[in-house]
Amino acid sequence: MSKLWAGRFEKPTSALLDDFQSSISFDRRLLRCDLLGSIAHATMLGEVGVLSREDAQAIVEGLQGILTDHEAGRLSIDQEAEDVHMFVESLLTQRIGEAGKRLHTGRSRNDQVALDVRMYAKECCGNVLALLYDLLALLLELAKSHLHTLMPGYTHLQKAQPVTLAFHLMAYFQMFRRDAGRFAAAHEEADVMPLGSGALAGTTYPLNRERLAELLGFSQVTDNAMDGVSDRDFLLSFLSAASICMMHLSRFCEELILWSTNEFGTVTMDDGFATGSSIMPQKKNPDACELVRGKTGRVYGDLMALLTVMKALPLAYNKDMQEDKEAFFDAFDTLAKCLRTFTEMLRTAVFHPDVMEKSAARGFTNATDLADYLVGKGVPFRDAHHISGALVGKCIRENRQLLELSLEELRAECPGVEEDVYQAISLQACVQRRSLQGGPAPDAVCRSIRRGEEWLARQAAP
Ligand code: ARG
Repeated sequence: MSKLWAGRFEKPTSALLDDFQSSISFDRRLLRCDLLGSIAHATMLGEVGVLSREDAQAIVEGLQGILTDHEAGRLSIDQEAEDVHMFVESLLTQRIGEAGKRLHTGRSRNDQVALDVRMYAKECCGNVLALLYDLLALLLELAKSHLHTLMPGYTHLQKAQPVTLAFHLMAYFQMFRRDAGRFAAAHEEADVMPLGSGALAGTTYPLNRERLAELLGFSQVTDNAMDGVSDRDFLLSFLSAASICMMHLSRFCEELILWSTNEFGTVTMDDGFATGSSIMPQKKNPDACELVRGKTGRVYGDLMALLTVMKALPLAYNKDMQEDKEAFFDAFDTLAKCLRTFTEMLRTAVFHPDVMEKSAARGFTNATDLADYLVGKGVPFRDAHHISGALVGKCIRENRQLLELSLEELRAECPGVEEDVYQAISLQACVQRRSLQGGPAPDAVCRSIRRGEEWLARQAAP
């Protein structure tokens, strides 16, 4: 097939270059967006009189026919085509003749591809947001049923202070809520319509850019043609939001992997979300979690790839930018799959509150509360810290817990201790007392869940 741009060339491109530069194998994913963009362009060209009504109508109908065939799965995509844009234009001309050759009036592939990718990015943001909302709703539901499930909170992966499973889950709620904010922002960034930028310097035709934005559902038009064709920030925003979201998923997965070990034993994955070993009959491995953790690296790689492609690129369009798509598609596919799988895995996992509570009861998670108790009896905090530490030391030597010490033993370190100490340093009391906004007390977590529910109810996928 002779190239649509072959006018000034004396010989055909090398087969090597054809293969090297072709993007149809991956940008065919943009076919629907490309057709919708072209339909809007031709409609507008007809309205402003750049195309005759008849030509515009023939083009629109031709493109709609291609779209119908595509959606019915009967369009065979010519792998010889240089890219999806050339494919559509050639096919249109084959189908409707001369009028097809007028479609590209006032447009360049540079603003066309920018448009297609922005449209596609908006869809991807919407899809990711819907998946995040599912996960967020599940976290709220799980948190509600574990308001009183005590477990140890950790720092340095050493037991620190008692918390509840609801509180721990709501920490993830906050992370994924911020992720949703980042995808909503990436959507807003992509929601700017670039047609009319031409190759780089705009166009001489009286295009109605606002009308194009309206036809295509964009809320703004780009304000500088050079930037309009060479900006891929919106993809970088998507990729960085995806990387941060994967990072959050990887932290959660790492915890579930730990919690499902024999050593922790606080969660059991559903059989549907674990795999066995070909040699060790007893094995049940949390593969889904491990894969999400592993795929995080892949999404970071996609972000680094595009950052590096864009680094030091002179204005305006450069073919380097064709490399944006595979990284973007891969990150979207990976993130969507991870979110979908992770949410179902979490929904079916079984937590073990009894094991969690037993674990919280060992390891002196109430030692800070013992110090705080002493402060209440007038001991300066630094001294109280030392006394509590000394009692912890005694317990470690004798393999006991603070709550197992007698009043005499406690008074040997601090005469001010009274009978009420046992109530004060019970795990329930430790949690209950931390009732400031953001604390683990069931009341505080309940309020946090309520705010989460209200926020979620206000979100409508863009
Ligand atoms: N396939 C190209 C891309 O993805 C489309 C734009 C080509 N523009 C050009 N001037 N060669 O970037």
